[in-house]
Amino acid sequence: MSAATPTGGNVQPSARTLVIIPTFNERENLPLIVGRLHRALPGTDVLVVDDGSPDGTGALADELAAADEAGRIHVMHRTEKNGLGAAYIAGFRWGLERDYTVLVEMDADGSHAPEQLHRLLDRVDAGADLVLGSRYVPGGTVVNWPKHREWLSRGGNIYSRIALGVKVQDITGGYRAYRREVLEALDLGAVESHGYCFQVDLAWRAIGQGFTVAEVPITFTERELGESKMSGNIVREALLKVTRWGVTNRISKVKALLGRS
Ligand code: GDD
Ligand code: MN
Repeated sequence: MSAATPTGGNVQPSARTLVIIPTFNERENLPLIVGRLHRALPGTDVLVVDDGSPDGTGALADELAAADEAGRIHVMHRTEKNGLGAAYIAGFRWGLERDYTVLVEMDADGSHAPEQLHRLLDRVDAGADLVLGSRYVPGGTVVNWPKHREWLSRGGNIYSRIALGVKVQDITGGYRAYRREVLEALDLGAVESHGYCFQVDLAWRAIGQGFTVAEVPITFTERELGESKMSGNIVREALLKVTRWGVTNRISKVKALLGRS
């Protein structure tokens, strides 16, 4: 249901969108991504969540915020590099304390095209609770990823589908739009995932709570500037946690079945 304005007209949820951009050493990329976003969708607010980047990304974000006369750019400075998950949770909390109706996750490095954000937002406005930008549905693509990285991602998605028993094609992707009600309903304090399995974690929780999860095709383009923060620890955390969630889920289903017989 869409919110009513004082004049009685209807406003789409995406009218109050906050795009959260986590950053760690993204000095070269940040001005480019924010510029592209505001050219594509001038009405969106941005929250940069910087984990004390040694390269000065945080200070640069402050400069961008001060220079934006429309006041659309906000910056959260965190002192420690605590992983993508913790940065997003802090960003979600900031957004939920304000009147944003849609909260978006977007990488700083240009992999997620702001020019395609309307695809996600249109789907939220059409009624989906969580919209995943998907590389692996028809129309979705990956550009310039080394083959090993693409296979790691595809393998991670196949494994997640089997372990968790979900139909989602790109559950590890990091370009998404949440209706605020989803984040309000999830127990964010209980989310322990630090690395990229945070993405699987939140989608899995949203599905578990019965929210509608939709996928729209996106073009994921590997960064040209700076470095990926992907690491062996991030992969290990994901493998362990997805396996644990899948096993726990199956055990509780078996228990429910036995309880009924
Ligand atoms: N604040 C903060 N703290 N930001 C971080 C941290 C952190 O510890 N780690 C990474 N980031 C930021 C980066 O600066 C970038 O804006 C974004 O998170 C994504 O990091 P990348 O290092 O570029 O990720 P990637 O390209 O390897 O992985 C992408 O694809 C994965 C799935 O295949 C991301 O979209 C992941 O979220 C996604 O799971
Ligand atoms: Mn990247």
